[in-house]
Amino acid sequence: MNIAVQCEELAKTFEKKNRVIALDRVSFTVEKHEIFGIVGPNGSGKSTLIRILSTLLIPDTGWARIFGHDVVRQYGRVRPCINRVSVDAAFFKGISAWENLRYAARLYGLSSGVAKERTLEILDRLGFERKRYYEPLEDLSRGMQQKVAIARAFFTAPMLLLLDEPTTGLDPRSKLDVQEYVRRSMNQDGLTIILTTHDMHEAESLCDRVAIIINGRFVTMGKPSELLARYKKNNLEEVFLEVTGREWKEIEYES
Ligand SMILES: Nc1ncnc2c1ncn2[C@@H]1O[C@H](COP(=O)(O)OP(=O)(O)O)[C@@H](O)[C@H]1O
Ligand SMILES: [Mg+2]
Repeated sequence: MNIAVQCEELAKTFEKKNRVIALDRVSFTVEKHEIFGIVGPNGSGKSTLIRILSTLLIPDTGWARIFGHDVVRQYGRVRPCINRVSVDAAFFKGISAWENLRYAARLYGLSSGVAKERTLEILDRLGFERKRYYEPLEDLSRGMQQKVAIARAFFTAPMLLLLDEPTTGLDPRSKLDVQEYVRRSMNQDGLTIILTTHDMHEAESLCDRVAIIINGRFVTMGKPSELLARYKKNNLEEVFLEVTGREWKEIEYES
């Protein structure tokens, strides 16, 4: 079976002061070895979807399966297959990258020797200076902390990586380092990635297929080249304008 992720009519509404439909009957399939991109402005439902797939949030209706396991009923089977990187990575900020990664290694039953070797290898490739490995995380820039989060997600060798805006808010250099690392990691055996972003260029250059999400709905989906051909456009920003009737920049600045 070549399917990594399958979702049918996933929906989630939050009831607080007012009712927000965060996810509105989203369906899609991701094949093994794909990088599937979900692009949309702030508040469009990307993190809600990622949190459902990573078993942290229960959908109101619909279902999702990861490698054939239902994310709600079989979350215990799903969790060992996945890892998630979010914008607000959960770390102990007062201790070093190494201490955080060693702690994660213990949770995954990896020896600290193996953890050190693997994480240093990943961090080297991400352009992270080794001497900063032992400094408290709170002394590192956001870009460096994000690299530690990426290293943590990759070194456990998950089958599905859920990267929730892995490059948002990074300096241009770190952003390129992370993109390059993601691109090259796709040669790794058996890895599938779902990546969310609000960077259209990132989606276009990194992803095998892309879905555009607005107000919790997938408004279009396909290979970047297919989308450009389907709408007769030169880039994804123009596709966005075509399917939503709004300028991408206009929405980005609003949010
Ligand atoms: N825990 C929550 N409680 C109430 N509203 C939420 C919660 N999480 C998300 N939302 C709302 O759901 C919508 C989608 O949010 P989110 O999935 O975080 O979007 P994105 O990741 O694309 O920025 C937003 O309107 C957001 O305010
Ligand atoms: Mg988000």
